[in-house]
Amino acid sequence: MNEKKVIAVLGATGAQGGGLVRAILDDPDGGFTARALTRDVNSGAAKALAAAGAEVVAADVDDIESLKRAFDGAYGAYCVTFFWAHFSPEKELAEARAMAEAAKAAGLQHVIWSTLEDTRQWVPLSDTRMPTLMGKYKVPHFDAKGEANQVFSDLGVPTTYLLTSFYWDNLIHFGMGPKKGPDGRLAITLPMGDKKLPGIAAEDIGRCAYGIFKKGGELIGKTVGIAGEHLTGAEMAAALGDALGAEVGYNDVPPEVFRGFGFPGAEDLGNMFQFKRDFNDAFCGARNLEVARSLNPSLQTFDTWLARNKDRIPLE
Ligand SMILES: NC(=O)c1ccc[n+]([C@@H]2O[C@H](COP(=O)([O-])OP(=O)(O)OC[C@H]3O[C@@H](n4cnc5c(N)ncnc54)[C@H](OP(=O)(O)O)[C@@H]3O)[C@@H](O)[C@H]2O)c1
Repeated sequence: MNEKKVIAVLGATGAQGGGLVRAILDDPDGGFTARALTRDVNSGAAKALAAAGAEVVAADVDDIESLKRAFDGAYGAYCVTFFWAHFSPEKELAEARAMAEAAKAAGLQHVIWSTLEDTRQWVPLSDTRMPTLMGKYKVPHFDAKGEANQVFSDLGVPTTYLLTSFYWDNLIHFGMGPKKGPDGRLAITLPMGDKKLPGIAAEDIGRCAYGIFKKGGELIGKTVGIAGEHLTGAEMAAALGDALGAEVGYNDVPPEVFRGFGFPGAEDLGNMFQFKRDFNDAFCGARNLEVARSLNPSLQTFDTWLARNKDRIPLE
């Protein structure tokens, strides 16, 4: 029997990496094994992954030597950064560089880099449609990921660039679920006008990544964009209303209003939604539903995701 290929997975106890680990474990004859990287091998989440059959290994993206050790002997790696843990695009860029250098040192044969657009290619800093943030970014948590693509390619790391989409799980964990207005009616608030927002079940990102690894080297050097569906705010609100059995409206606020909401990251997200709204054809065009489904035949639609998760959505 051929030896199985080890995939080292960053963020294995989280959303994207967790989906990939579960996809590998769900397919014991698929030819791959999961090496789950975590800062704390003794956490409940890490122990659960070990109990499910993953190899659990300590690594920290801020410690390149730990990455080199964790990548050693692996076939491939899933690389993702954690912007919302520190809100620093510079740190994200340094972490991506550490991952790419560790991948090169370990001689990995296939890396998937979880990336997003460098929006400055569409909205240069001189463009006043949206404010420049942190001195040199338009959408900080996008731009550094996009900028980091070059690091992987310059180092010659065999990389697939995976363009992800808005997690529908944000309705549960990120404060984006329906909220009651002064009139007592539920509504979601997105500054998207009548444009479509590509969305995905976070779990499906890792499952699509597994599909990419299963294709061998076919997608190395390529950019693959995925989503479960492209939906307008009004369509999302209607689907939420059907699932929850309550009327849910859609508050289409201008991006400048969203930027002023005051929560940490509000300006970054306001710019992000404006970018998705104003460059909608390019943004949606880069995220192909058929490609995602071919990589992951169990890809969820918003209705499927809602049927499974509606009871977890907090209604404030
Ligand atoms: N929310 C969205 O809609 C969305 C959409 C597209 C892209 N993204 C991007 O997704 C990224 C986050 O991915 P995610 O949602 O999968 O993350 P997540 O669910 O927050 O999981 C993060 C996991 O990564 C690990 N981690 C955190 N800091 C680490 C470090 N220094 N070294 C090693 N591991 C570390 C943690 O595991 P341990 O505690 O076990 O170490 C944690 O469980 C962000 O950069 C965000 O911009 C988000």
